[in-house]
Amino acid sequence: MTRTVPPLVLTSRAAIGEHVGQLRAEKKSIGLVPTMGALHAGHLSLVEASNQQCDATIVTIFVNPTQFDRPADLLRYPRTLDADLAALAPLSVSALFAPSVEEMVPSGASTFVDPPQVAQPLEGRCRPGHFRGVATIVLKLFHLIPADVAFFGAKDYQQSLVIRHMAEDLDLSIRVCTCPTVREADGLALSSRNAHLSTVERARALSLWRSLERAAALVAEGERDTGKITTAMRQTLVDAGVDSIDYVALTDPESLEELDQLTGPAQALVAATVGTTRLIDNQRIDL
Ligand code: PAJ
Repeated sequence: MTRTVPPLVLTSRAAIGEHVGQLRAEKKSIGLVPTMGALHAGHLSLVEASNQQCDATIVTIFVNPTQFDRPADLLRYPRTLDADLAALAPLSVSALFAPSVEEMVPSGASTFVDPPQVAQPLEGRCRPGHFRGVATIVLKLFHLIPADVAFFGAKDYQQSLVIRHMAEDLDLSIRVCTCPTVREADGLALSSRNAHLSTVERARALSLWRSLERAAALVAEGERDTGKITTAMRQTLVDAGVDSIDYVALTDPESLEELDQLTGPAQALVAATVGTTRLIDNQRIDL
């Protein structure tokens, strides 16, 4: 029978600490799913993965101001707590931690994580300070909720690498698990920011996925020159009428260093703005 009870909502650091203590006393393994809310099937797939691997799942919703490089993006970020609770109700969630900004970032807090090398290119270059804010808040969540496994989506590929490297470099005992990107039937990656797209913009936004597919098709045909592949990817975005392109890249999947020639697996990554909405997507490309 499907359980449709909204999860227990906790907003203070003390309350979530107590909840984790109870789960530990019951010898339950804990999975952590950090989010900024406006939950969609991509987020819910992380909850499902956690429920498969762990005895109890804790979801967090916190629109982290320190990771937004543009104030307007933070202001209009969708906040849909009631809908989020309804989305989580059919799933088994032990607790939802939804702290206020003051609870998570008390005024006067001035310590930040200097993120690892892999945070430098791509998003790091386009969004100064973004990964510093992400790494700091995720490390804080890992301390407040010392779970066994934390679940992140491949949709934010560079973010998952940043967190994995941080966990390794700082000897965090939490295991980082990266789960596949959930897409709409036509390929558009689910994103909370898709809510901002008009019908016309949504059609343009699909070109991010098309550009990744174009890269995969060229590689399948034998193309190995990354210059030619990224030119074709860029053209796919331009033809669809995206408003601006931040980057189109073919990189080493681990270091995110750009490649000249493909000699092994690569990660194709794109970032572009459609209307006023900045979108990212990526896909692994195997030879
Ligand atoms: P948010 O954008 O809400 O995403 C939360 C998690 O859901 C991230 O791990 C993200 O990669 C994953 N996700 C988003 N869209 C997905 C999709 N289509 N398929 C699979 N997974 C998807 O990423 C953040 O929040 C924040 O930076 C956070 C890690 C919570 C730190 O503030």
